[in-house]
Amino acid sequence: MIRFVGMLLVALGAFSSAITCGAATLSAAKLNPDGQPKLSEGDADERPALHERHVAPVNGMSARAALGKAIFSDATLSLHKNQSCGFCHTPETGFTSPREDFNGTGSVIEGSVPGLFGNNKPPSMAYMAFAPVLHHRMEDGETLIVGGAFWNGRATGKQLGNAVADQALAPFLNPVEMALPDAACVVKRVCKPEDPSAYPVKLTDLWGQEICAIAFPAGLDEQCTDPKAKIKLDEEARDHVERAFAKIGLAVAAFEASDEVNPYSSKYDMVLKGRATFTDEEERGLALYKGKGKCANCHVLDAGPKGEPPLFTDFTYDNLGVPRNPDNPFYTQHEGINPHGHKWIEAGVGATLSKDPLYAALAQANMGKVKVPTLRNVDKRPSPDFVKAFMHNGYFKSLKSVVHFYNTRDSKPRCPDPLTREADAMKAGCWPVPEVEANLNTDEMGDLKLTDAEENAIVAFMKTLSDGYPPRSRVSA
Ligand code: HEC
Ligand code: HEC
Repeated sequence: MIRFVGMLLVALGAFSSAITCGAATLSAAKLNPDGQPKLSEGDADERPALHERHVAPVNGMSARAALGKAIFSDATLSLHKNQSCGFCHTPETGFTSPREDFNGTGSVIEGSVPGLFGNNKPPSMAYMAFAPVLHHRMEDGETLIVGGAFWNGRATGKQLGNAVADQALAPFLNPVEMALPDAACVVKRVCKPEDPSAYPVKLTDLWGQEICAIAFPAGLDEQCTDPKAKIKLDEEARDHVERAFAKIGLAVAAFEASDEVNPYSSKYDMVLKGRATFTDEEERGLALYKGKGKCANCHVLDAGPKGEPPLFTDFTYDNLGVPRNPDNPFYTQHEGINPHGHKWIEAGVGATLSKDPLYAALAQANMGKVKVPTLRNVDKRPSPDFVKAFMHNGYFKSLKSVVHFYNTRDSKPRCPDPLTREADAMKAGCWPVPEVEANLNTDEMGDLKLTDAEENAIVAFMKTLSDGYPPRSRVSA
């Protein structure tokens, strides 16, 4: 099934006000079918508005984005002041994990608290600012879920009108990530940074002294060092904390939408502009990517609504049948973090939908489906032998085996052991059982009949998607 960019249907007025899908009637009136986030005005915060002041750009970056960059890079915004957002999302790897030690095994990065791990591999956060707010669209009589952030779309964008702004509020308070006990801790630390010089633009520069004029309780700093602290605030202070916290999310989202994070500077982009040419193998890879490999069905090559270069994702969800990662450290987390132990599965966007009364009827049909990630920077690494991990649980360690999996998932036998690692499965010529067997995509992958050379060509093409082309070493050579 070929997918189209959501905006097309909206533009054609095909998004009717009520769509009936099986037993479920979905009211489109409550949804935001708008394709792109409106980063400058996408603030759905309904508390008394604070006027955003005009502040001059910093090094060509809007003031809002510059504030977001400072927040993104601030390790003091974690329990032990040892982990920033950038700890898990570095530009050298395409804004995903910089940690080879974790990438080579369980692929999850340890949080601020030693020994605590979440359940998934960090996806790239570049080019994600263009994710629409989670919504649905009809295609060939099927309801497709589109947009939202996180592998399972749980940062829907409905809170702040912007998926990545909603997303940005989560890691600070996630016990297995930055682990602060309360938004008040984040707001206090952003309002009074430990190193003011790291904030070329401050929250108060943009939203006035009022944004930080909050009656924080005495002893808050001490409480913020305890991951289990229950912080009591009166109603007004709580309201002000939430207002400031929302601005923090919007500032981070502005950074994520900036040219620094989305430079469109890969070889692929240079070819589009006529400034570089593909090798023969890359050219063949692109043809296979669009044709026999079917990759472009989901990692789409359509231009954006304003002619932006392709994002290599249509922001929909699919279950490819990726096996469990036997080394996922989440399996052995204590019960308070993971009550399901080794039985835990990533239930994907189905789990997110099941919590939304509007969409609960669609949950079963979406169990196990995770977000189609962008392929921009998928091969970006600091050195050629640097180990990266692929897919939501980092099961795969090489792009060659990813393509081999698309090619042969259904033509190779099942490995007897469901917990067979990628390298062993490749050696044995089998694939382990999918992490989730329901809702497997069998139309677009599984038995592509690609030759070995064709697989390699697709990999060669994916290597042209790394930003920063030509690489520095080649310039100086
Ligand atoms: C401990 C490592 C870690 C830290 C710290 C961290 N992230 Fe992430 N990030 C992840 C993981 C893991 C996921 C995927 C989680 C999931 O989908 O269940 C993720 C997902 C995301 C996504 C969604 C991308 C997508 O494709 O949907 C964005 C955007 C993002 N992070 C930005 C941030 C920001 C902003 C911060 C700081 C406020 C941050 N991250 C802090 C590990 C981290
Ligand atoms: C039916 C939609 C679909 C098709 C077709 C498809 N993909 Fe994907 N792709 C996905 C989804 C969904 C994921 C994430 C799956 C997961 O993590 O379990 C993904 C993940 C990936 C990843 C890992 C990215 C990362 O950041 O971890 C790579 C690489 C990739 N795809 C390449 C390809 C190539 C190459 C093709 C064609 C041979 C292809 N895809 C075809 C939907 C698709």
